[in-house]
Amino acid sequence: TEVTERVASVIDACKGLEGPMLPILHGLQEEFGYVPPEALPIVAEALNISRAEAHGVMTFYHDYRTHPAGRHVLKVCRAEACQASGGDMVLVQLQAKLGIGFHQTTSDDAVTLEPVYCLGLCACAPAAMLDGQVFGRLDADVIDEIVDEVRR
Ligand code: FES
Repeated sequence: TEVTERVASVIDACKGLEGPMLPILHGLQEEFGYVPPEALPIVAEALNISRAEAHGVMTFYHDYRTHPAGRHVLKVCRAEACQASGGDMVLVQLQAKLGIGFHQTTSDDAVTLEPVYCLGLCACAPAAMLDGQVFGRLDADVIDEIVDEVRR
């Protein structure tokens, strides 16, 4: 199939590297926008590891999606500085407004919510990033701004 061919070409491009697993997963996510479930057995076979191992590596890292993302990706910082400045409350508000949890996409495909561990914006904690755009000092107003943006 077409997917199989695209998976094979990503594997080929990275197979010679030392520790090819992560570059391959990264390449697959670049290629498809997520790591298609049917890709893992192919990767496992190419690298001579079990499917369970491949799956374990994939789920150990937070960066890989198993489903296509929405039109926007909102990453909310869960690291220490953000937690210490009210990050939990911000997260609760955001999740309530969007009606989704982490690693989920709204039913209109507008946005996927993902955790991130420090955006380098600790001075403006709590922080989030919508697509490439960063938002600091998240409060109810900034949250409304973000939600408006994804609903547009
Ligand atoms: Fe959130 Fe650094 S801890 S940006």
